[in-house]
Amino acid sequence: MSALLVEPGTRLSGVTRVPGDKSIAHRWLILATTARGSSRLVEVPRSLDVRSTAACLAQVSTTARAALEGWAGNDRAEPDGHGSTWNRGDAAPPERSLEVEGGGHDSLTAPARELNCGNSATSMRLLAGVAAGIAARSILTGDESLRRRPMERAAVPLRAMGAGVDTTGGCAPLTIRGGGLRGILYRVPIASAQVKSCVLLAGLFAEGVTVVEEPAGTRDHTERALAALGGPVVAEPGRVSLQPFQHVGFTGTVPGDLSSAAFLVAAAALTGSALTITGVGLNPSRTRLLEVMGRMGVQTTQHVDHEELGEPVGDLEVEACAGLIGTRIEAAELPLVIDEVPILALLAAHATGETWFLGAAELRLKESDRIAALVAGVRALGGRAQDEGPDLVVGGGGLSGGHASGSGDHRMAMALAIAALAARGPSRIDGIEAAEVSFPGFVPTLHGLGARIEEA
Ligand code: S3P
Repeated sequence: MSALLVEPGTRLSGVTRVPGDKSIAHRWLILATTARGSSRLVEVPRSLDVRSTAACLAQVSTTARAALEGWAGNDRAEPDGHGSTWNRGDAAPPERSLEVEGGGHDSLTAPARELNCGNSATSMRLLAGVAAGIAARSILTGDESLRRRPMERAAVPLRAMGAGVDTTGGCAPLTIRGGGLRGILYRVPIASAQVKSCVLLAGLFAEGVTVVEEPAGTRDHTERALAALGGPVVAEPGRVSLQPFQHVGFTGTVPGDLSSAAFLVAAAALTGSALTITGVGLNPSRTRLLEVMGRMGVQTTQHVDHEELGEPVGDLEVEACAGLIGTRIEAAELPLVIDEVPILALLAAHATGETWFLGAAELRLKESDRIAALVAGVRALGGRAQDEGPDLVVGGGGLSGGHASGSGDHRMAMALAIAALAARGPSRIDGIEAAEVSFPGFVPTLHGLGARIEEA
């Protein structure tokens, strides 16, 4: 395990990029593998999670296997029971582009071995939808952290569509006997883009129409990509319907990941710096974090300049911030900032007044129990945070700095590192290598912007 030593007090400056969007990359890799014909994907992030999806897809496609396996590499995290064996991204080959030869939905085959999703719940829940469409038996597993996360939420609709799905006490390993699916109307009980996408992807293999209704808006990358590929998809607020169709190969450059950019936006805000992040995804189902940060006093401007497979892309400018104020994130807004709660909470620790995250129970089911990890992390750096039942409250007033752990969770480790940039004294953040799960090059990027940090 490696630690990050952070010396506060420097201004950051520059124009930078972030690695490609993890959520989008999972989906495009799946769609390239299920397409008929060849696809070219550019700027696919070499994060461990995305490589897990590629390695699993290689198992079920003879046409795409060599390209996907070669790209994924063999140094991904294995489900070794520790959940913290992140391998360094720089040990892997640097290609961020790949050509995938898809053979169409019908060409997918039984996997030769277990589908190892590593640390990635998105891989597991999305691939469960694909496995349900393959007339064969698939077993999906993952690392210790992933094997603790709830999988019935994906199993329930897949069973209703006709797949046989066994969970292990509600979690992975999952055994899926796929094939013979029929479309359903599914009302997702808890807002989840992963579950929505699992059902829609299974719907590609089903007979008849598949409809998904969600209780609150969630990221819409699956429906955007399907529509851009010419699919009979109707997406309205809270409802998506899809007729099965066979798409053909496509080309796309994965936009920069706004969830990764959020750490840099926060870093700029906390150090009173102006920053520009280029080529970033600005899909409105992901930009709520900028509104929340705006309420806290962080002014940003979005310049959308083009679309990639239905995804708006452009530059994001962050203005130097004069001071932060606390805010309330209501339960209905929370699913739209679900991945940014760690960085928003650490930003809140530097604000004036309290910040409330209402109805935040889903955070307990992420890569770590993020409510517990945030309370512990904020306190370890000398701040105030409280678990208030389903809500999380963070007291403002600034941080003194200290010794905190990333709890084996990429977003926790990065959020703590960023918060430490504005603490009153130096800090040590343990487990910074977890950043490779979603933001390969996090430490060098921050260093390049002028942060006084050192890996130990
Ligand atoms: C994701 C959906 C969210 C998010 C995750 C990525 C996706 O999970 O937290 O990091 O790509 O669909 P839920 O669907 O569990 O909310």
